[in-house]
Amino acid sequence: MLILILICFSNHHASAQNVLSESLDLMPWPKNVEKKNAEFIIDNSLSISISPSGQGRVHHAAVNFLRRLSGRTGAFLNEGFPVTDQQGAIQITFEKVSNLSIENDESYSLDVGNSGITITAKTDVGAIRGLETLLQLIQNDGTNYVFAGVTVNDTPRFVWRGLMIDAARHFQPVGVIKRNLDAMAALKMNVFHWHLTDDQGWRVESKVYPKLHEEASDGLYYTQEQIKDVVAYADNLGIRVIPEFDVPGHASAILTAYPELGSKDGYDYSIERFSGVFDPTLNPTIDITYEFLERLFTEMSPLFPDDYFHIGGDENEGKHWDESKAIQKFMKQHNLKTNHDLQTYFNIKLEKILNNLGKKMMGWDEIMTANMPTTTVIHSWRGQNEGFPEGNSLISAAKRGYQTVLSNGYYIDRMEPVEKHYLVDPIGDVKLTDLERSRILGGEATMWAELVTPLTIDSRIWPRTAAIAERFWSQAEVKDVDNMKKRLKQVSFNLEELGITHIKNRDVIIRNMTDNQDISALVTLSKICEPLKIYSRNKGGIEYKTYSPFTLFADACVVDAEDALPFNRAVHQFTSDRSSVNASQVLAYLNSWAGNHEAFKKLTKNPKLTPLEPLSENLSSTALLLSKALESKSLTSENLTKIKEGMLILEQPFADVEVAVLDGLNNLMAFCVSHYLVN
Ligand code: ACM
Repeated sequence: MLILILICFSNHHASAQNVLSESLDLMPWPKNVEKKNAEFIIDNSLSISISPSGQGRVHHAAVNFLRRLSGRTGAFLNEGFPVTDQQGAIQITFEKVSNLSIENDESYSLDVGNSGITITAKTDVGAIRGLETLLQLIQNDGTNYVFAGVTVNDTPRFVWRGLMIDAARHFQPVGVIKRNLDAMAALKMNVFHWHLTDDQGWRVESKVYPKLHEEASDGLYYTQEQIKDVVAYADNLGIRVIPEFDVPGHASAILTAYPELGSKDGYDYSIERFSGVFDPTLNPTIDITYEFLERLFTEMSPLFPDDYFHIGGDENEGKHWDESKAIQKFMKQHNLKTNHDLQTYFNIKLEKILNNLGKKMMGWDEIMTANMPTTTVIHSWRGQNEGFPEGNSLISAAKRGYQTVLSNGYYIDRMEPVEKHYLVDPIGDVKLTDLERSRILGGEATMWAELVTPLTIDSRIWPRTAAIAERFWSQAEVKDVDNMKKRLKQVSFNLEELGITHIKNRDVIIRNMTDNQDISALVTLSKICEPLKIYSRNKGGIEYKTYSPFTLFADACVVDAEDALPFNRAVHQFTSDRSSVNASQVLAYLNSWAGNHEAFKKLTKNPKLTPLEPLSENLSSTALLLSKALESKSLTSENLTKIKEGMLILEQPFADVEVAVLDGLNNLMAFCVSHYLVN
């Protein structure tokens, strides 16, 4: 019996791998895909019909589909809108219009044959997920653009596949949000978590408490009409919007407007310009705090029709609570022994307010205390075993009866490589009952915005979030990193058609760096440099203020630098097999870097460029020496010393970036030492 199961499993696994190795660049990878010996040729006669017809989500998605398709293929379509005769080459059928919720069915079937295409789904949202898959099947066969012939039966693994955008640390205008919603929909993500207040600003118009947007936003906030517009835009894409109003900590902005709600008398509350965890905290012991929150949430909740409502609750160190005699007295009177107990007291009151408004309260995992009702939703963000003896907070929340969502492992602002996030599985090997499993709703990538502006936010979200979207949608076995990276390259490129700026803004930033001189020298450097990781840019939160420039070299550079993996791989290949082809691949990189400093030196200097000089110079000199060693198959000890000196410098951070080809350079140096060293 056991053997039989193993065989079944390995067969299943093998077939998934076979399909993965095909030429399809689908992401997220569908649950079931079979490639057919067929293709559908895209020409001007392509048309779509939808049943039932109407002006809803599928119509909207179909129109966008046709625009993206003709943009990609150059087809001058005869019919630019869905046809009403049910005779479209692409026939979409769905049963019902979804009201977005975690119960929503997003499954679909897609069949592409030589003479027609069908998409069948239970809901309209399932149908639009199918249209995104179909767009990813466009291929060029050398003569025609075609849809690759496939049969797909697809359904998501998790019901909550989110992206959080922090619009508080740096305000992100509506256009930024909308283009990212489009990109989320392209990756079948379905939750937009909107972080709307923090120490650095309150970002929503309030008619009830107007000082919030008037005095605590620097004029950078969403009007209520804009919020409604974004929520409707997301809804049309099958994306739920969860607002977050972070309380009682992260409250400097709220307290700038309404200091009487603060925990420390006489404190001069002001909008925070730095990053970090700050002391201003709502006072949970006074009635006016709850009156304020009740009226505020009563005003805010109709703007956000989703059932779930996030109250933050993170990183409250309670310093001002410790310092307040009145709060300490209140705690004694109410037998609240710790600040956690006091925060739980606050959270329980908040939950009642939200329940009365028909909302389910969600908060970061600090809210999971002994007395917190299991009707709240736990958003797991802290590391393993940090106050969670049963393992990470996600699993312990599910075991204790809470619905839960994972963000630990998906902090894209940490600037870590895509595979790091991709390989984080929300459940992993943990054994759960069906009921416990059902409480794990899914996950969210978190785009904290201390160091991002509208200019750079897309390049910090994409393309890595596409791989995270696959983790949330696809089966757990889909985890081949090389294959993911191959598909991600195509997906990343296609995101540009939605206006995502992650690729093009590199050159925009470098043009600014160089004052509109030739950008090629800096482009070369940007392809081997990555922004400093894990919050080592902006140490202590005080190197940058919210209004500091984010138009610097580090802002042009991205995680997973373009030339790093190919170079490091080329070195690996060469050191395992010294063929002339392998050597020439390595030499092509070395020689382009060796000559780069000449180009860099030609630029008229300015204060933005100066910090890059040692990087540029040492990269060139080190690459030149390694290139010479490879070409001549000889390395003198004098040159080895110079290479080592150069490497020591390249190992330092420059202008908030790190060099991403150090592994390859070091391996090459070691190879030259063992094979070419003379005297
Ligand atoms: C968080 O990162 N403070 C939720």
